[in-house]
Amino acid sequence: MLLQTCIAPVNIALIKYWGKRDEALILPINDSLSMTLSTDQMCAKTTAAVGSDFKENKMWLNGEEVQFEDNCRTVKCLDEIKRIAQLQGTAKFPLDWKLHICSENNFPTAAGLASSAAGYACLVYTLAKLYGVQNEELSKIARLGSGSACRSIYGGFVQWIKGEDENGNDSIAVQIENEEHWPNMHVLILVVNDNRKKVGSTKGMQRSVLTSDLLKYRADVVVPKRIFEIKNAIKEKNFEKFAEITMKDSNQFHACCLDSYPPCVYMNDVSHAIIDFVHKYNEMVGEVRIAYTFDAGPNACLYLLQENVADVLLAIKKFFPNDNDGSVEYLKGIPIDLKNKKDENIFNCESKPIGRNFFKYIIHTKIGNGPKSLIEEESLLNEVGLPKSFNP
Ligand code: DP6
Repeated sequence: MLLQTCIAPVNIALIKYWGKRDEALILPINDSLSMTLSTDQMCAKTTAAVGSDFKENKMWLNGEEVQFEDNCRTVKCLDEIKRIAQLQGTAKFPLDWKLHICSENNFPTAAGLASSAAGYACLVYTLAKLYGVQNEELSKIARLGSGSACRSIYGGFVQWIKGEDENGNDSIAVQIENEEHWPNMHVLILVVNDNRKKVGSTKGMQRSVLTSDLLKYRADVVVPKRIFEIKNAIKEKNFEKFAEITMKDSNQFHACCLDSYPPCVYMNDVSHAIIDFVHKYNEMVGEVRIAYTFDAGPNACLYLLQENVADVLLAIKKFFPNDNDGSVEYLKGIPIDLKNKKDENIFNCESKPIGRNFFKYIIHTKIGNGPKSLIEEESLLNEVGLPKSFNP
């Protein structure tokens, strides 16, 4: 048996991908740009193994066996890896050997936190290592799993170039800046309580492409300009500009969702309360210190610089008090030393709390690097190729 185990990061888009021009190849109608989050707090982990005695392809996802359905996105990624491995002659075993794959996220999938991006990037990266496929091809293959997954192949700031080719050969992700460029770029994810049934991203964007005039204007006119501007803001580490573009793009993406028919509603009242809070906070401190962005769900992803994390957390605690505050379950990730706060006066203001128990929990993380291989001891599969978690 030969095996490989890897981890891959989550990425959160600053300029959103929303809408495909080709469903099967997952080709987008506009470029998008994201920041990769550290794998220390959130990642997908995958072990892929091949063996001469494996009878069939098998896959386990977050502890449960899932079927390998013909032509599903996983099979498309696997077929592409095998095709390239065949061309390059890189595999150290016969290509018809069956495969066992075990994959886990170290964060709740149900929280709606970009789990498919990390999951497919990890699957493709792990298979590439196993079959010896060259790295330049990987973002294109990850794209076949989930569009946003192509951006999780790199760390730092990443652009997914939409490309022009009908066959998708130029629809690839490229790294704009690595994680060292702006190392004090931190993130607070506010996981919001919400049980509404939402339209998934794939369906939601189909609906928007078919029905939203605003989306067409966004893709043709607004996004190219914003991509250019945010790349400059990142290059110059201009947080104010970066924040403004990020917030405007999140707002426009949700406006396109509402412009779809029937509308796709992803944010809820708590999301809107967070947006209000961020604008009020920035106004109160007299500079832009927080930027929000929301994907196809109600959770907020707040971008902020490391030196402002303590102050912002104190403000969140004040305006959004929570009965679980103080428990390790409530504030996850990089520890925050509240003694590092710098602004005394903003917490003495008279403002009343906005709402209690609005968040399930908060994750503190930062910019991070791309996927990586782990040592054999980290494998999720045992010596006969079955999930270790099945053992007593
Ligand atoms: C709102 O990548 O999940 O998070 O390509 O259909 O799998 P598929 O969609 P997916 O869409 C992500 C949409 C988004 C914005 C973004 O990440 O750019």
